[in-house]
Amino acid sequence: MTSTLFTNISELVTNSPEIGDESVMGRLYDAALVVEDGVVAWVGPASAAPDCDEISDCHANAVVPGFVDSHTHLVFAGSRADEFAARMAGERYDGGGIARTVADTRAASDEELHETSQQRWWQLRTSGVTTVEVKSGYDLTAAGEARLLRVASDFTTETTFLGAHSVPREFAHDRDAYVAYVAGEMLSASLPYAHWADVFCDRGAFSVDEARHILTAARAAGLGLRLHGNQLADSGGVALAAEMRAASVDHCTHVADHDLEALAASGTVATLLPTAELFTRSPFPDARRFLDAGVTVALATDCNPGTSYVTNAPLVLQLAVTMMNFTVDEALWAFTAGGAAALRRSDIGGLAVGQRAHLLVVNGSRSADLAYRASARPLARVFHETSGIDR
Ligand code: NIG
Ligand code: FE
Repeated sequence: MTSTLFTNISELVTNSPEIGDESVMGRLYDAALVVEDGVVAWVGPASAAPDCDEISDCHANAVVPGFVDSHTHLVFAGSRADEFAARMAGERYDGGGIARTVADTRAASDEELHETSQQRWWQLRTSGVTTVEVKSGYDLTAAGEARLLRVASDFTTETTFLGAHSVPREFAHDRDAYVAYVAGEMLSASLPYAHWADVFCDRGAFSVDEARHILTAARAAGLGLRLHGNQLADSGGVALAAEMRAASVDHCTHVADHDLEALAASGTVATLLPTAELFTRSPFPDARRFLDAGVTVALATDCNPGTSYVTNAPLVLQLAVTMMNFTVDEALWAFTAGGAAALRRSDIGGLAVGQRAHLLVVNGSRSADLAYRASARPLARVFHETSGIDR
């Protein structure tokens, strides 16, 4: 068992209210942290740090927990740069471009999918993401969705079956048959590789009744529930997520006050996706409404080829603060502890004793530097228990 002392930390954010300044951020100044076997073993003032086998000097920089990116569509082929350009010239996003990515993804080899997904995962990691959720949804056949989840399982255990992303062309004449296929054969084929199920429940996508049917089958099969809801309209997706006590409902661009009350009562996390709003020129939801209503809020990249081709985690934090009315601390909490809550994980999202040693050494003395400075190199180091130091 090797112990490593991370010391000379100007500001340490643990997200554990029992530590340090007794805020939800659990903040300590002039701190140190000991890692043993990939887990945080001690946290305290640098002056009281125990002896360890190795010392890692943080050079008076701030240290924060790794980002938990609880919503991505990392496994896909092709590009939709021209769709983006058309949108910036005035076209509206309606989810129709999913069919194009489905065609490109079906045509891609296992090796190509693996390679391109791995590259995106590497970019996310070096930008500070230490845990990622990955959805299927760009094949829409039983064997193909299972294939995408198999690729995703190579780099995360947080895999999500999203057969209900769009109705593919071959079922355009019979959407009921497609819903039955998703809830039956496709779900069964995906089960060995999936931990969660998700449905794109929105205007022009799947209705509340269709989503309820698919999620009920997924729950019976043992999967946890999440939902894309209210991205394009007040579509009832958020209310359904609360009704079904889903772990998270994501996007939440258009929400009514009664939706917020329902989320607070059910404990369902609202995952906000600022870069999806940015790249579709959609209104940014006001985080204050969610937070004041007592809803647990997470932030994620939504990395996907249509609405948010983003592998830059600090950008999410910066937009949350500048455009969504999060305070800097609230945004940092949402992208760490909030993401962990959205995945129902207590071993990540913070740096208290017993949690995984996923830590970011900021290139700056304050955690706020991550939101304050749009640096090309915001992180000095990313430490992850399985890979050691990424950069
Ligand atoms: O989260 N809204 C549904 N799914 C993705 C976009 C899918 C696409 O356009 O390829 C999203 O924004
Ligand atoms: Fe998404």
